[in-house]
Amino acid sequence: PTTAASNTTGPVWPELAASHPLKDLQSKLPKLLKEADYAEVYGVTLSAEEPTPFSTNLILQKFLRANSNDVDKASSQLFSTLKWRKEFQPLKAKDEVFDEERFGGLGYITVLDGVPSADGKGHSKEVVTWNIYGAVKDHKATFGDLNGFLRWRVALMERSIAQLNLSSATTSIPDHGAGADPYTIMQIHDYLSVKFLRMDPNIKAASKKTIEIFQAHYPETLSRKFFVNVPVVMGWVFGAVKLVLAKETVRKFTVLSYGEYLVNELGSNVPKAYGGKGPELKELGETVKLEPTKQAATAPEPPSSTTAAA
Ligand code: HEM
Repeated sequence: PTTAASNTTGPVWPELAASHPLKDLQSKLPKLLKEADYAEVYGVTLSAEEPTPFSTNLILQKFLRANSNDVDKASSQLFSTLKWRKEFQPLKAKDEVFDEERFGGLGYITVLDGVPSADGKGHSKEVVTWNIYGAVKDHKATFGDLNGFLRWRVALMERSIAQLNLSSATTSIPDHGAGADPYTIMQIHDYLSVKFLRMDPNIKAASKKTIEIFQAHYPETLSRKFFVNVPVVMGWVFGAVKLVLAKETVRKFTVLSYGEYLVNELGSNVPKAYGGKGPELKELGETVKLEPTKQAATAPEPPSSTTAAA
């Protein structure tokens, strides 16, 4: 019989049957953590101690849900995520300072109250990440240095997830197929006035790699994603990108021709540009740390070090 943890003070995960996939995954954890030589996911330090801490179960449950409760698949996805995090250091990226010229105005995180729930019955508070890719001024500068772009994009993602406060979560995540995960974020891509109608190689490479990383290492983090202000001539991009994504992911996507339509989906606290009554994103939201470009005159660089923007 399972003994409830009487000596712990935090929230207690619902009792699990001995055959529950979460039990199985818990039992693999000591070996996984040892072999990966890393234990942190989304700011939660996974622990193989017994009883399994609540926040560890939360992360394990996300990996199980993403793999329809297939414990072997969940465990190999978790292993590869631990290895990736050990190398990429997403929490460090989260606090890095980024070049304002390249990334200023391109990403925000808001916590919105009054978001209508999918069943239309109530409202909830949601973490929403905004990618204003239409505001990119110089695509070579933003996307040309792939690793730099990825660090910025991952920083934004980690900052949004940090808003979910997973380490102090108290609500358990339902089993696969048994209800929604309350610890997810929403995302918006705003393509208003994109300057380049062709997907050039820099954009292609950056979006491909971002999609790969999020698919592999951020399972069950997204609830819904909206693409707004999509230029008519670029509608085909949606069809093309869909091909490389899981069906369950595509089901979360909605394309809206106009930004103002977002108010119907996210409620009246969105900025005016999106049909609401909220202030502009730069007042409403937070972003990564940004710094103006260093004065070229004071710090001359050898011309070959980076690809200069044409
Ligand atoms: C994903 C940039 C045009 C649909 C992405 C990503 C980037 C990106 C960097 C990676 C995922 C992320 O950052 O969250 C751009 C740029 C565009 C452009 C710079 C303009 C030239 C479009 C258009 C559509 C579109 C017109 C049509 C709706 C998508 C979809 C994804 C995506 C469906 C996958 C999203 C995901 O997996 O979460 N785009 N994109 N993109 N983009 Fe675009």
